[in-house]
Amino acid sequence: MIKLENISFTYKNKIALDNVNVNIEEGESIAIIGPNGSGKSTFLKLLNAIIFPNGGKYVFDNTEINEDLLKDNKNLKLFHKKVGFVFQNSDTQLFCSTVFEEIAFGLLQMGLPESEINKRVSDCLNLLNIDRLKEEHPYNLSGGEKKRVAIASVLAMNPEVITLDEPMNGIDPKGKRFLRELLIALNKSGKTIICATHDFEYIEGVFNRAIVFSDEHRIAKDGIYEDIIKDEEFLRRYNII
Ligand SMILES: Nc1ncnc2c1ncn2[C@@H]1O[C@H](COP(=O)(O)OP(=O)(O)OP(=O)(O)O)[C@@H](O)[C@H]1O
Ligand SMILES: [Mg+2]
Repeated sequence: MIKLENISFTYKNKIALDNVNVNIEEGESIAIIGPNGSGKSTFLKLLNAIIFPNGGKYVFDNTEINEDLLKDNKNLKLFHKKVGFVFQNSDTQLFCSTVFEEIAFGLLQMGLPESEINKRVSDCLNLLNIDRLKEEHPYNLSGGEKKRVAIASVLAMNPEVITLDEPMNGIDPKGKRFLRELLIALNKSGKTIICATHDFEYIEGVFNRAIVFSDEHRIAKDGIYEDIIKDEEFLRRYNII
């Protein structure tokens, strides 16, 4: 489904990803792990075509994803229907004046009929337990509530691939347990999950694979989640625990 070949990315003159090679199959559930600044968020931004590689190739469903392709609004919409992104910082994701509008925004862009939009928004409000917040201004919500709204707005689009950047950050224990169950349920329903995380305590049983980035912005290890997480010596050496 997803193929990254020799991907490199540099912010001005600062390397953030160095020669990254990854294949991802439909239905996988992948933890993106690594120390601060190793390139996890950059990797997710690339997958979401928010930025484009300086070197290498990104292929999604046999189509190379690049700036040229996505200049065509039709291709852009099609791509964003397939891949959804929950940002590390919810404030950069939420911009509408009510929670309802926020979740409906992408659906309006897709041109869905009003009845379908209302149904999807109400399903997602229920799923994330935020029905009571639907008339609130997202700006006035707590961090955990904002995160739920951001997740709802992504799920409303029903993407095949859901990418999340540190979704457990600043969430209380009950919220983390809720999020864990949600990720497991989404993956069981066939969604591909790709999630950057530092929060190992609350993610047991969520992921089948881990990709570990190093301080050198390269992939240090790519393998079965349970095996990698058991390897304390490796995790210490790479500043993960
Ligand atoms: N907009 C930017 N401009 C310049 N440099 C950036 C920018 N965003 C990230 N970087 C740099 O790129 C590198 C990778 O950053 P990235 O945000 O991908 O790391 P990360 O693994 O997500 O870290 P964290 O665990 O802190 O979220 C870092 O050295 C960072 O300083
Ligand atoms: Mg990050």
